[in-house]
Amino acid sequence: MPDDFIPFSPPLIGRAEIDEVVDTLESGWLTTGPKTERFEGLVRDYVGAKYAVAVNSCTAALHLALVVLGIGPEHAVICPTYTFASTGHVICHTGATPVFVDSEDKTFNLDVEKLKNILQRDCRETRAGLVHKKSGKKVKAVLPVHYGGQPCDLDEIMGLADKYNLHVVEDAAHALGTEYKGRRIGTIGHITCFSFYATKNLTTGEGGMLVTDNEEWAEKARVLSMYGISDARRIWKRYAPKGSWVYDIKYLGFKYNMMDIQAALGLHQLARLDDFIEARAKHAAIYLDAFADLHQIRCPHVVEDARHCWHLFPILVDNDLLQVHRDEIIEILKAKNIGTSVLFQPLHLHSYYQEAWGTKEGDFPVAEDVFSRIINLPVSPALTEEGANRVARAIWEVVVEHRR
Ligand SMILES: Cc1ncc(COP(=O)(O)O)c(C=O)c1O
Repeated sequence: MPDDFIPFSPPLIGRAEIDEVVDTLESGWLTTGPKTERFEGLVRDYVGAKYAVAVNSCTAALHLALVVLGIGPEHAVICPTYTFASTGHVICHTGATPVFVDSEDKTFNLDVEKLKNILQRDCRETRAGLVHKKSGKKVKAVLPVHYGGQPCDLDEIMGLADKYNLHVVEDAAHALGTEYKGRRIGTIGHITCFSFYATKNLTTGEGGMLVTDNEEWAEKARVLSMYGISDARRIWKRYAPKGSWVYDIKYLGFKYNMMDIQAALGLHQLARLDDFIEARAKHAAIYLDAFADLHQIRCPHVVEDARHCWHLFPILVDNDLLQVHRDEIIEILKAKNIGTSVLFQPLHLHSYYQEAWGTKEGDFPVAEDVFSRIINLPVSPALTEEGANRVARAIWEVVVEHRR
């Protein structure tokens, strides 16, 4: 890697994280144990929810959420097409039918008006609940995604969920620390799932957390995350001097538990999360200022009465006002040693979804337009101010050199 390469989203790992991992390795207990329990408590308190269950990914948390809500083949679940594989996959893994909704143009979050259209036009109300006309399945849940760390319009979504008796499972993979009208994400939907993947605002390498105020769901998710074995999450106590070998398998569960090695990272990452978000916001401010007069690119719209945690900084390039296409701009930035990403390729354009669910190009025009124009710039707290200025300068140079 060249010395001056700016990676897209590197983690920022400090001495405290390294020492805590070494302490775990030397402790004689590596997997789910006291550090995982402590990390769960700290995330629960940070978010302000009642219960938290640490797992090995956000995907696992989302899957558990749908399972504890009883979602299965007789159901349909609504999610945005503009998201990562996880959101759609977990719906399909329960046997339910995914129903996609297009994005709104400003934030790329799911468009609440289009969600309303689906609920009112594409569904019919029956005595058994809301039925999706095309699939004949009962609509049971909505999975909004807080794209890039910017909150969806949760008042509207929760209002619709109330009206139609739906569960809201928030895919908050990007949104630990995000606030909506003064409330932290994790305290609004019925279940919320966070990601601690290597690129996320807080990382445990791989990892995730399910939070909820519902004790029954939390407890069931906890048991399901460890084969469905009762009290298995406290297995470390079983191996303690007075532990017992007895256990019972209550449900057909999964192997989704978080290890103490991961939680060791999380404990110290969480202590620094607000500083990380502040650093991200400073980089974002540099970009917003630098690009304010460039009408060839569009910066993210920042919603009011919210705290954006700036997991992503997307720009949309106007392919008509430039002689170079988005893909070429990414190559130009690469040549200048700047790493970027394209998040996301809408789910309905992928082969699996087209073959299994009959989706096709043209189904969701806003998501497709965003996908054709988006570039996600580096905004990690590991990036320096000088680095952010270098990225901003590079974008300026591309625009000035290639504008029509
Ligand atoms: C929107 C969204 N949901 C879910 C996930 C899955 O997270 P994990 O890798 O922790 O399973 C990601 C990962 O990038 C994501 O971007």
